Amino acid sequence: MMLFYLLFWTCFLLLFTNGEKGFHYGEWNDSQLQPTIQKLMKGYNRYLRPNFNVGPVEIGMSLDIASIDAISEINMDYTATIFLRQRWRDSRLVFPGNESVSLDGRLVSLLWVPDTFIPDSKRSFLHDVTVENRLIRIFSNGTVLYALRITATIACNMDLTKYPMDRQECTLQLESWGYNIQDVQFYWTRGNDSVKGLGTLRLAQYSVESYHTTVSQAVYETGLYPKLVLHFALRRNVLFFILETYVPSTLLVVLSWVSFWISQSSVPARTCIGVTTVLTMTTLMMGARTSLPNANCFIKAIDVYLGICFTFIFGALLEYACAHFCTMQHQTIIDVQRELLREFEESNGTSYLVTSTPKKIKPQTQPKDTTEQETTDQTVMCEGDEPEPERKEKGCGLSSVKQMSRKAASVMTVENPHNIDSHARILFPMAFLLVNVFYWLYYLLF
Ligand SMILES: *[C@@H]1O[C@H](CO)[C@@H](O)[C@H](O)[C@H]1NC(C)=O
Ligand SMILES: *[C@@H]1O[C@H](CO)[C@@H](O)[C@H](O)[C@H]1NC(C)=O
Ligand SMILES: *[C@@H]1O[C@H](CO)[C@@H](O)[C@H](O)[C@H]1NC(C)=O
Ligand SMILES: *[C@@H]1O[C@H](CO)[C@@H](O)[C@H](O)[C@H]1NC(C)=O
Repeated sequence: MMLFYLLFWTCFLLLFTNGEKGFHYGEWNDSQLQPTIQKLMKGYNRYLRPNFNVGPVEIGMSLDIASIDAISEINMDYTATIFLRQRWRDSRLVFPGNESVSLDGRLVSLLWVPDTFIPDSKRSFLHDVTVENRLIRIFSNGTVLYALRITATIACNMDLTKYPMDRQECTLQLESWGYNIQDVQFYWTRGNDSVKGLGTLRLAQYSVESYHTTVSQAVYETGLYPKLVLHFALRRNVLFFILETYVPSTLLVVLSWVSFWISQSSVPARTCIGVTTVLTMTTLMMGARTSLPNANCFIKAIDVYLGICFTFIFGALLEYACAHFCTMQHQTIIDVQRELLREFEESNGTSYLVTSTPKKIKPQTQPKDTTEQETTDQTVMCEGDEPEPERKEKGCGLSSVKQMSRKAASVMTVENPHNIDSHARILFPMAFLLVNVFYWLYYLLF
């Protein structure tokens, strides 16, 4: 303690010799100056704030953001190193002259200093290499400047529903721990310009979009406390995600469409493309998920996109299964029809027509030259779906019930299974494009 007093005195000695005589280190006269120092320090009680019983002490703050090291989505916080500067006027420290004196950081323990704290900080520390990083400077008019270098991990609530097209609003709050607004008032020394260094900051995944400062009050059960808030908005650089996740998944979807241009008969080729793309997509989805907390269950924009891509890829695989099944069924139907036609031709078709349509009895009675034409008519009737059910029953059903059941099945299936692929070639890209337009419009504009 004695050492501190000695140091303090030394500083003041320096000051006064400076103001009155200049630098005459060798001619210090303790008996001359000691009473002045004693006078200054005699009334000084570091446990009492300035303006005690007079009014609140006004504390001006300014910040220099040296770095923002880690912005963590998993912990929802960021780590920043800041220079915090506080200035206030302590009338007890007024001394003659117009000079200022910078004191040793350790002399802070002799003076009253504000009890500012960062309410949202999880961990923070004052750097102490090689000495505690504090600065204290006293001006002759009693103004005290007190600067600190702090590294703090500060909570920032993030809304990740639009990840990675998100914009995070974080704050840095400064409050007084024990003095309420009747004792202490905070203000930013230069308004929005009080914060420096944010504009030139280089961050790995983000860029600082904007920042501003506000003055407010913290309301607690014990009263109202002064509070200063620095708001800053971080915009994530989406390019990295576009290259790492969006482009590969889009290309995978396009790759799955290749299957539509491959012949339906080459089962291994098309199955291979389908299954490989589905598996690759699954891997991509897993990879995109590991970089973020999977504990919180909200759906992020990137999950939505990967889900869309997965659906399309899976759809392409199902399309082949469907097309292949229809082709096989169509072929059996064609076979059955061909068989029936042969049977019908063998049985000469005459009895058939007599029982079937009474209207057509007249053409039936005509000479045998037209039999050929009628048989073709009949086949057309049996193949198309145009005839009414009762006519069908009469026309085709009476001869074989088996054919009818086949007929009913063929109504359910697609007319020409090879068209499924040609439709898919148009439908899949169009649908994917449309979904993309809606996706990007929604996430970029709203
Ligand atoms: C200090 O200054 C006072 C008055 O100016 C003088 O009387 C005294 O002798 C000085 N002491 C020394 C040690 O120089
Ligand atoms: C300090 O005061 C002296 C005289 O009292 C004057 O000459 C000098 O210009 C002042 N310096 C500043 C920085 O105001
Ligand atoms: C005290 O002096 C400093 C430096 O000369 C100046 O910046 C500050 O405004 C002064 N404060 C008051 C209350 O006059
Ligand atoms: C600080 O910036 C905010 C947002 O840009 C603005 O609303 C406010 O008026 C500014 N304050 C000052 C003192 O310039």
